[in-house]
Amino acid sequence: MKYVDWLKEKGLEYRDGVLHFADMNTIEIAEKFGTPIYIISEEMIRSQYKKLKRILDSEYKNNSIHYAMKANSNLSILKILDSEGACFDCTSTGEIHTCLKAGISPSKIIYTGNMFTNDDFKFAVKNDILVNLDSISQLKRLVKIYDDLGKEKEIVSFRINPEFGAGHHSHTITAGKTIKFGILDDQVIEAYSKAKEFGFKKFGTHIHIGSGIINAYDFEKAIDKYLTIIMKLADTLDITFEFLDFGGGLGIPYRPEEDPLDLELYKTIALKKFKELVEKGNFGEPEFIIEPGRYLSAEACIILTQINTIKDNGFKMFAGTNTGFNTLLRPAMYGSYHHIITCNKKNKEKILTYDIVGPICESGDIIGKERKLPKLEEGDYLAILDTGAYGFAMSSSYNSRPRPAEILIDKGQVFKIREAETFEDLIRNQDIPEHLK
Ligand code: LLP
Repeated sequence: MKYVDWLKEKGLEYRDGVLHFADMNTIEIAEKFGTPIYIISEEMIRSQYKKLKRILDSEYKNNSIHYAMKANSNLSILKILDSEGACFDCTSTGEIHTCLKAGISPSKIIYTGNMFTNDDFKFAVKNDILVNLDSISQLKRLVKIYDDLGKEKEIVSFRINPEFGAGHHSHTITAGKTIKFGILDDQVIEAYSKAKEFGFKKFGTHIHIGSGIINAYDFEKAIDKYLTIIMKLADTLDITFEFLDFGGGLGIPYRPEEDPLDLELYKTIALKKFKELVEKGNFGEPEFIIEPGRYLSAEACIILTQINTIKDNGFKMFAGTNTGFNTLLRPAMYGSYHHIITCNKKNKEKILTYDIVGPICESGDIIGKERKLPKLEEGDYLAILDTGAYGFAMSSSYNSRPRPAEILIDKGQVFKIREAETFEDLIRNQDIPEHLK
């Protein structure tokens, strides 16, 4: 793909040398709202959802996309996806609370936590949220909560660990014998037969093998194993399934030389095989579920930042900006690549190599290593791309730097969807004991 087209796919283009995102002039936004700032395009979120939904609908109508809101849990993003018809994957009661605040129906939520407490179960059962269990031992505790609350046991699901994992970094690979998630193949029959004995009438199943998978073939072994397990389960226990959840993990092209995930191939690997088995009458007519986070929100957001210091130490050039791993942890945490471009430079200017660094007091505060960019000057603006997933969500106020604002842009309009934190916010929840006052 040509570089300009790669940028265009992400809603980015230069007009008269000025970077525009979703048709908005980035320099005007930076000057009006200040930097650093997260800018989110409503249209990009909608179009990613529609692209994925179209692919699934073309093969098997009984499907749903559950947005893994851990990627970005801003209420406006949840509302945008809700209005498109999305469902939601929550990993904590805090996330469920946020969904409910966004007006999302409990019937659209699956709660895939791990290491659940009894309080987690209470919260879920009280709010009629479907729980996707992570171990056999949790089943008994969940049943007790249903009984204590006098609620009917309807449907339950287990997360299965198919042992074949994948992901952009070892920390994001979530399947394998040494990984904490889910139950292994040889525990699956026991799990569901116990659930049946406890009186659950309906069943779902789930896998999630990892995050940031850009090659669709990386899903293949896990999905083949998953389907084999499900067939054995349906056969042995004579049960059918309401849904099979294939998890998230769908990657996006962070680097200009990367092609997007091949959705047609993903469809062949996951959905077509599933559909063939459904048609053979192997396990009822379950809903086909996937739960992407990154795929829906990552490319819809850029961080705008301003360069405050150009430092040439005689060995290396540093471009120091006003944002670091406090707003985007991924490069420091996983060595992740985020493409960085200038907002106000034309291509023909002299190209130099810089480390783009933030203001955090750690030498690991590097947003982009050895980046070739047109000669930069103090005061220039930069855009850090693909920050809509695990950007704000993993931000912190480390070094007592208040988190920046988030704005939503759509059809030439700008909406502030989160105020920037203030210094007061940093100390709001603290108390000083009497003897220190
Ligand atoms: N479902 C489950 C059960 C998950 O644990 C996750 C992500 C997802 C779905 C969504 O995965 P996605 O489609 O976004 O890849 N902080 C890391 C990613 C950690 C993902 C954790 N679980 C990063 O910045 O790359």
